[in-house]
Amino acid sequence: MASLKTGLYLGVCLCAWIITTADDNGVPRAENVRWVSLDFKTILNWTTEASDHVFTVRYSSDDSDWTDSDDCIRVSESECDLTHTLKPLNRPYSADIITEPAIMDYDISLEMLTHEYSSVFNPYLESNISAVNIIVEALDESTVIVNITDPLTSVHHYDKQLSLRDILKKDLKYKITYYKSGSTGKRDIISDTNMAVLSQLDAGQSYCFMAAAFIPSRPKRTQHGAWSVHQCIPGGKNNPLNLGVWVGAVFILLTVLFIIVMVTVLCCRCCRQRNTSQSSAPV
Ligand SMILES: *[C@@H]1O[C@H](CO)[C@@H](O)[C@H](O)[C@H]1NC(C)=O
Ligand SMILES: *[C@@H]1O[C@H](CO)[C@@H](O)[C@H](O)[C@H]1NC(C)=O
Ligand SMILES: *[C@@H]1O[C@H](CO)[C@@H](O)[C@H](O)[C@H]1NC(C)=O
Repeated sequence: MASLKTGLYLGVCLCAWIITTADDNGVPRAENVRWVSLDFKTILNWTTEASDHVFTVRYSSDDSDWTDSDDCIRVSESECDLTHTLKPLNRPYSADIITEPAIMDYDISLEMLTHEYSSVFNPYLESNISAVNIIVEALDESTVIVNITDPLTSVHHYDKQLSLRDILKKDLKYKITYYKSGSTGKRDIISDTNMAVLSQLDAGQSYCFMAAAFIPSRPKRTQHGAWSVHQCIPGGKNNPLNLGVWVGAVFILLTVLFIIVMVTVLCCRCCRQRNTSQSSAPV
């Protein structure tokens, strides 16, 4: 009786086991698939239940055929770096994440396996842009130069690591925001180049500046890069350059005075010696 019961249980369990493995639901699907992209380093990222399955990622642009991504064939991680694969950058790409059994089965075609599509992603239009570095220099009391350094991207052309400007070219502008320190009123300018000259500032006033990449040809959501840190310059009055000039001038004046005094003293001594020798010679 007892053995019949255990036999029955065993049978039920075995049945359930067969059902779950045969069922598509038993194979972990890639979930929460999303694109994470910064300065054109583009990673496809997903979550999944723990299992000994592996993933293969393939991609396609527009309606072209699927291509396996060389770096993500039968990987156990739940991410795939597609930075070097998605070229040219300005295309809409879709990815397909296929779950494969840990032991390769050559009889199964990829189409028969569990898989999950990503959303469509265009790196050129959607990659996030990190904060730029700026250098602010006062030209005179009312003019300032803001010098912006492009961030480097993860894209290479042969041996060269491309900058943001190398990739976006004329599509890349910079937005510069500035304000008098202590004031809440802000002004914006758009610069086409990495060097912006801001004139007609109030003399003797201290100003602060910050800048961000601005790509007006992109959709609104992705037009702005991250903001740089604020860079402030002191007002013209306590300009350290002016102090330096004064110290220099006083130093030169003192030196000239010292030389004049020395020359006078030497001359006098000379004259006195000649006078004494002349008066004592003819006796
Ligand atoms: C870009 O950054 C925003 C804000 O941090 C984030 O929500 C978005 O997912 C990022 N996009 C990509 C493609 O990484
Ligand atoms: C997915 O991206 C986020 C944000 O970059 C990261 O924190 C997380 O670790 C990534 N997940 C995987 C599985 O790589
Ligand atoms: C701007 O920055 C670049 C790179 O740091 C430098 O080569 C250039 O001389 C700078 N120009 C000015 C006006 O500061």
